[in-house]
Amino acid sequence: MSSTRKRLFIKTYGCQMNVYDSERMKDVLTPLGYESSETPEGSDLVILNTCHIREKAAEKVYSELGRLRPLKEARLESGDQMTIAVAGCVAQAEGAEIMKRAPVVDLVVGPQTYHKLPELIARAARAKGEALDTEFVVEDKFDKLPAARQVDGYSAFVTVQEGCDKFCTFCVVPYTRGAEWSRPVDQLVAEIRGLAAMGVREVTLLGQNVNAYHGEPPAGREADGPWGLAQLLRHLALIGGIDRLRYTTSHPRDMGDDLIAAHRDEEKLMPYLHLPIQVGSDKILKAMNRQHTYAEYVDLIGRVRDARPDIAISGDFIVGFPGERDEDFEATMKCVREIGYATAYSFKYSRRPGTPGAAMVNQVDEGVKGERLQALKLLLDDQQTAFNQAQTGQTLPVLFEKAGRLEGQLHGRSPYLQSVHVQGPAELIGQIGHVAIESVTRNALTGSLVLPATVDS
Ligand code: 5AD
Ligand code: SF4
Repeated sequence: MSSTRKRLFIKTYGCQMNVYDSERMKDVLTPLGYESSETPEGSDLVILNTCHIREKAAEKVYSELGRLRPLKEARLESGDQMTIAVAGCVAQAEGAEIMKRAPVVDLVVGPQTYHKLPELIARAARAKGEALDTEFVVEDKFDKLPAARQVDGYSAFVTVQEGCDKFCTFCVVPYTRGAEWSRPVDQLVAEIRGLAAMGVREVTLLGQNVNAYHGEPPAGREADGPWGLAQLLRHLALIGGIDRLRYTTSHPRDMGDDLIAAHRDEEKLMPYLHLPIQVGSDKILKAMNRQHTYAEYVDLIGRVRDARPDIAISGDFIVGFPGERDEDFEATMKCVREIGYATAYSFKYSRRPGTPGAAMVNQVDEGVKGERLQALKLLLDDQQTAFNQAQTGQTLPVLFEKAGRLEGQLHGRSPYLQSVHVQGPAELIGQIGHVAIESVTRNALTGSLVLPATVDS
């Protein structure tokens, strides 16, 4: 066991219910790197799980807090931390009052919010600059950014932001990747200029929560304060040689008007937006801690489409989150029908120990999840085909990235990120050319070059 594991002491007052809750708290905190300790001395986290039944219960808690204070101070002096949390019925009854009367307390968590304990602990650790030594398996498909692949052509990925402060209850990212962190604008400009010099034409800005980007402004613009993603995109659009900009993945809550406006008037910003909603039911959105409603999402997409009517909307969906009933799943299907997705990823909910969702009691049967996923995928596939079909007869600018699989064939991408195949000369690789789209499948478009072959040479 690694030496950075943290010690957790829970003192339980009162009834069996509290004993049970204390066990659950231990369970949800173990994956965050905590192991039980028999005494408060030397503990990184002390939880008093209180009871209100007997008289003077609150007084007993305050006197225990008085005993903990010197222990916390002693730890602070030796450069360690002790986070003190009050849980249970006294926490429920007294709420934030406790922290006023006993400033030694860092967290107050009522019985209704135990599922938030991992989030609260992670936030408290962040506030103190502590790192959690989590047991989360980092190599997980949900935790990884698309590989910031080496430049192997004309389209490159650049990580601009990492970590996440959202704490969706199904997700490991806020625990494994830590707090949101953005790279400075000047550093990105230098990197992307370098890419342009190597022939890169298209850059996709990456971040777990990329539209929460708030990077240090360029030299001379310090007075602006941190720059948001829209400002960054407009600035990067000035770099010669870079003709296409994209970004992923965004959270609806961080989709500001300035970013929407950039989709209206920044030509280099491609008409493609990956904006996951995950589910259509307000009840499940709330249980997922997504921090917005279905109606707000629909309104947001409406504003994005007002700004850029042809934009391709993409998303992520989760089926079978705890508590998802048939009618909740139907709300997801309705959402897909109402929004109309160009493409989307869909997943069965997978229980990640240590996340609040894993501790929820109303887990959904695997068979039910499978059926829902199948129905959703069919609908999404149909939409993707329909979106592609709508391009038939259109002429699209295509960035040719490499040779196609067939002799004399080129492979490229449309502004909407569709794969495009066309017969054409290899010299066009690395250039943007116009293609008249003739036929489509769910996964690709085919057509012929419109002369002159390139729009930029
Ligand atoms: N179970 C299922 N899907 C998940 N995702 C993240 N965590 C989980 C999980 N525990 C999905 C979400 C997210 C995408 C990157 O992965 O849809 O948007
Ligand atoms: Fe995970 Fe994305 Fe939610 Fe952040 S916003 S917690 S990365 S799903």
